[in-house]
Amino acid sequence: MTPLYLTVTDKHIKYSYEDQNTTATIQQDYNINPKLPLTDNFVNFKSKLPEYFDVIVILNPIDVEMKDTIVSCKNQPIDIGLYMENLFHIPTVGIHQVAKLGLKQAASIEAEYAGWHLDYYGYEDGKTQYSQEAMQTLGNGYFGLRGAYVESKADKNNYPGTYVAGVYNQLTTSINSKDIVNEDLVNLPNAQYITFSIDDTEKFKLNGEELEDIYRSLDMRTGLLTTTMLLQLKNGKRLKVVSRKVADMKNYHSYSLQYTVQPLNFSGEMKIHTEIDGQVVNANVERYKNLDNHHLITDKTLNDDNTAILLAHTRHSKINIAVGSKLDSPNLSELNVHTDKAHDKVAQSVTFEVVEGNSYTLEKTVSVYTSLETKGDLVEAVKSHSYHKTFADAVNNSMECWQDIWSNEYLEIDGDITSQKLLHLNAFHATVSAQQNVNRDLDVSVGARGLHGEAYRGHVFWDELFILPYYNLHYPDLTKSLLMYRYNRLGAAKEYAKSTGNEGAMFPWQSGMTGDEQSQVMHLNPITNQWDPDNSRKQRHVSLSIAYNIWNYYSMTNDEDFIRDYGLEMLLNITKFWISMTTYNEETGKYSISNVMGPDEFHEGYPDKEDSGLTNNAYTNIMTSWVFKKVEYFSTHESQDILDDNYKRADFSKEDLKLTKKIRHNLELEFNKDEILAQFDGYFDLKPIDFDYYRRQYGDISRMDRILKAEGDNPDDYQVAKQADSLMALYALREPTFFHIMSDLGYEIPDKHDFITKNIEYYLSRTTHGSTLSRIVYAMLALKVNNNDLAWKLFSQALTSDYYDIQGGTTAEGIHLGVMGATLNVVTCFFAGIDYRGPELEIDPHVPDAWQSIKFNMSFKGTRFYFTVTHDQVRVIPDDDIVVVFKGDKVQLDAHKEKMLNY
Ligand code: BGC
Repeated sequence: MTPLYLTVTDKHIKYSYEDQNTTATIQQDYNINPKLPLTDNFVNFKSKLPEYFDVIVILNPIDVEMKDTIVSCKNQPIDIGLYMENLFHIPTVGIHQVAKLGLKQAASIEAEYAGWHLDYYGYEDGKTQYSQEAMQTLGNGYFGLRGAYVESKADKNNYPGTYVAGVYNQLTTSINSKDIVNEDLVNLPNAQYITFSIDDTEKFKLNGEELEDIYRSLDMRTGLLTTTMLLQLKNGKRLKVVSRKVADMKNYHSYSLQYTVQPLNFSGEMKIHTEIDGQVVNANVERYKNLDNHHLITDKTLNDDNTAILLAHTRHSKINIAVGSKLDSPNLSELNVHTDKAHDKVAQSVTFEVVEGNSYTLEKTVSVYTSLETKGDLVEAVKSHSYHKTFADAVNNSMECWQDIWSNEYLEIDGDITSQKLLHLNAFHATVSAQQNVNRDLDVSVGARGLHGEAYRGHVFWDELFILPYYNLHYPDLTKSLLMYRYNRLGAAKEYAKSTGNEGAMFPWQSGMTGDEQSQVMHLNPITNQWDPDNSRKQRHVSLSIAYNIWNYYSMTNDEDFIRDYGLEMLLNITKFWISMTTYNEETGKYSISNVMGPDEFHEGYPDKEDSGLTNNAYTNIMTSWVFKKVEYFSTHESQDILDDNYKRADFSKEDLKLTKKIRHNLELEFNKDEILAQFDGYFDLKPIDFDYYRRQYGDISRMDRILKAEGDNPDDYQVAKQADSLMALYALREPTFFHIMSDLGYEIPDKHDFITKNIEYYLSRTTHGSTLSRIVYAMLALKVNNNDLAWKLFSQALTSDYYDIQGGTTAEGIHLGVMGATLNVVTCFFAGIDYRGPELEIDPHVPDAWQSIKFNMSFKGTRFYFTVTHDQVRVIPDDDIVVVFKGDKVQLDAHKEKMLNY
């Protein structure tokens, strides 16, 4: 092993290592610059070092109890292990561990630990704390429970939100004498609250002042979130408090909490207090603060011995909610639970005598039921809820469930513990947001921000296109459940199409409870604090992404029943909608689609034309042509019975089918003389933008739309994009498919590689990555033109976007599930290069230099594969005989036999 040894003090990092060339021991000092933030100091420090280390050893840890990589630096305790691992991507161990286990074993245990834990050391407040809570959210597809401190109540530093998938409510607020209607995923009663008091004094409220030390650790292997605190209260009393939480992955109505207090320098009387608090509102998003946020009405509170129940309902959607709580203890001999009932809160407490040095534990299991998924009496449901006997049972249960989950979602990255950790985290949150066994009981899909916060109000967007591919690889039945959410709202989509004078089905840009349009009409610009009109609803391409998800699901599963009963009907309705959106030009013989927006949300229409939308958005037209081709495919591959039945249900005629053939060859696209594909008609007339000027003025220019609007200017006037738009089609479709569609449309591209290179260069230089969905798409596009460095840079930024909250506060309002899904997809489909989008699996790896190998498993057409992909070899074991395509050649694989493919 090649270790780097560090002794970290407030002012210096003393470091030593053996020079690889001379074997001489190098010993040096790095002076911490007091004016620079710690991270910048560490980046500078790293730049002074060679790159051949595989472990870092901290020689002077100060706080071995929390973790033996804690040191004092710039006069504050920090876990330097976390900083170093995030920078060097190698394990960082403390000297005590090394002394105990030897360097090799300590490093290997830490590498394993780091890949499975999301840890935070120290007290945070404000948006940072909010975002860490989002990142440590637990859940099981049914509910999401933000990882707030259990002692906290909603305020500017903490937001203990709880959400159940599908529980929405609408409220109307009058702003500037306009009625603004908003439908929100409702923040449910807070039952994770627990705190303590000593000798009948005030309940403990968490703040930085009384906290000596705090470590929060999410163990993704087991689903257990642990917070360990050392407190020094104002009255001099010292305690250690450990709280643990775990969501039930099997009985999805339940989560469990454990709270342990240990008096360190006193004896006396203590109380632990818990609540189910119905006085909650939706207040996670600062921008929404002027809107009515009282979604819940509490009906009553009940109690019986050590159980308590709170019943509530949503104000307008009238969804009934019951939250139950049961207290227990493994070491308090007599649990005399005292209950205080108010109308909208039920508090339970236990009082006990404590002796200095001993630990006392209260366990609380919470059950949540709603009338959405539970028929019958909710009180009965809560009363008959089968609680785990002990918290340890709940943890065991969770551990077993997560073991199954991880053996299904197996993904191992060799050589980079940061990527390993964050990919596990993305998979963890994908699973928290939806689970096969749970979603089959629910009528929901995945929101853009998971079940983790209130931004975008829990709505479902085209972001499904970025996350469903991950579910397809591991839980195709889950994808089916999520597609059924769309099918169940086909009626609403038809109504919506009708309301704009169109036919077929137009799915809403933002979908919530019923499938009606939930996009806002006005959007608050946080720079000016003014409400600007919001036309994002014109992103009709959401229907294309639904069609895309249907096709992908079908292509990966061959689920004919789904196509017969639901899929084809949706596709035909979507097709009918797009037919009705086209206009035919007699002179040119071409079709146009107008009044839409592409994925680039900076362009809502043409300069000086109000509410116009755009004409011939390239992404929309290409994907429309693609969907029409798929409909043609089904029209020749399905039996006449199935076709007749589906045509009838969708009111789709033979004439319509004829039209799809004509339209899909004649939709208009525009190119300039350099073969750049215009984002929409007239794009090249827009003004270029002086990015450097704005960068100098504003620093971060990712939300260029807001900046321009604040300056009284209009982003519609400029060639500036929030995210990939024209080139999105190249992300979604296989390259040959993309060029077939272009050729179907009458645009032959002679030099395809040159076309892709030029277009990526052109649009990348005009894109500010104002959406987290931007970089990951460009990362994959960069791989196409063998710009591996750029691909890696963009991928790394996308991978860390929530971890570092790179949009400066948006993670606080919920994770970005789309980019999480897309990074997983880029790893398997493009880095490992196992492309599932064709009739056969196609293998063409591009393993990043920073990684030694990618190991993972996946399903394709009912066959399970286990892959190991290195820089020069693909090893694959299928569980069935199957043919794959390796770098263009067909290869036969035999069931349960490993095949090695060298490249
Ligand atoms: C992006 C959209 C995305 C939405 C929800 C926006 O910022 O521009 O593409 O669908 O966020 O994630």
